Amino acid sequence: MASSQFILLALICSILLLLAPSQTLAQSPSAPAPAPSGPVNFTGILDKGGQFKTLIHLMTVETQVAKQIENQLNTSSEGLTVFAPTDNAFNNLKSGTLNDLSTEKQVQLLLYHVLPKYYTLQSLVTVSNPVRTQANYGLNFTGQANTNQVNVSSGLVNTQVNNALYQQMPLAVYQVDKVLLPAELFEASAPSNSPPAPATKSNDSNSTTSAKGPTSSDNSDSGASQMNLWSGMVVGIVAICMGTLL
Ligand SMILES: *[C@@H]1O[C@H](CO)[C@@H](O)[C@H](O)[C@H]1NC(C)=O
Ligand SMILES: *[C@@H]1O[C@H](CO)[C@@H](O)[C@H](O)[C@H]1NC(C)=O
Ligand SMILES: *[C@@H]1O[C@H](CO)[C@@H](O)[C@H](O)[C@H]1NC(C)=O
Ligand SMILES: *[C@@H]1O[C@H](CO)[C@@H](O)[C@H](O)[C@H]1NC(C)=O
Ligand SMILES: *[C@@H]1O[C@H](CO)[C@@H](O)[C@H](O)[C@H]1NC(C)=O
Ligand SMILES: *[C@@H]1O[C@H](CO)[C@@H](O)[C@H](O)[C@H]1NC(C)=O
Repeated sequence: MASSQFILLALICSILLLLAPSQTLAQSPSAPAPAPSGPVNFTGILDKGGQFKTLIHLMTVETQVAKQIENQLNTSSEGLTVFAPTDNAFNNLKSGTLNDLSTEKQVQLLLYHVLPKYYTLQSLVTVSNPVRTQANYGLNFTGQANTNQVNVSSGLVNTQVNNALYQQMPLAVYQVDKVLLPAELFEASAPSNSPPAPATKSNDSNSTTSAKGPTSSDNSDSGASQMNLWSGMVVGIVAICMGTLL
């Protein structure tokens, strides 16, 4: 009678003791984050597209924006999204539109086509407007979730976001058939026959500043406390075993 009780208890005790270490092992930290991929050839992607010669020229010869983008791709953890106007889009601009811009404003115009984050088409459908760009002005996106069709609006220009030339973290490049002219840059210099400019909003300095730091969870303590819990339980069980036997 007493000996079978002893065997049962001894069995339970040893099973629990055997389980204890494997339980703590199972709690060890999960898989590490995927390693960042190699550098992305941004101008190479545009070059392959075949109809972005003006954009490449503006980004590599007139300005250094391409270099800036490639640098950012190397360092940013959020990635980038670029809207690439076709050569036709630039040809359709009123003549002089680009040449009338100072280099500084050309840079602003180009950076207006860059979002400091990687967006898939699906995520653009539901993004909250206005979306921060690399320039000082925002862009608005409207879309339909069921068709994945997205339009982008600068206020002056509304056009569809067309096929993705590239869509893989950290870079998305989408073709657009119009140059996205920021109202802030072009409204003032618009010809007199255009409708009066809507009242410009007051300082937008508050708008979406992304304070999104990756919160690295410090789980180094949990292993130790788990161990303490187990040793406490083992001591308790052993005590119960002893008590029952005596
Ligand atoms: C990027 O692509 C362009 C055009 O396809 C090519 O000329 C250039 O050598 C490439 N750069 C790198 C670093 O691979
Ligand atoms: C990006 O980083 C790679 C290596 O990590 C380097 O070879 C390349 O020159 C860098 N490109 C830029 C534009 O900084
Ligand atoms: C974006 O939409 C808001 C209203 O939702 C509007 O006030 C703002 O002017 C728009 N901005 C652009 C760049 O279209
Ligand atoms: C999207 O843009 C296209 C032109 O590219 C236009 O025909 C269409 O009406 C726009 N749709 C919306 C919802 O603005
Ligand atoms: C910025 O936001 C604060 C509160 O969030 C508000 O009091 C302030 O008026 C805002 N400033 C501008 C320029 O919108
Ligand atoms: C907006 O900025 C201008 C200068 O850029 C300043 O004079 C004005 O007081 C600011 N307005 C607000 C609401 O912060």
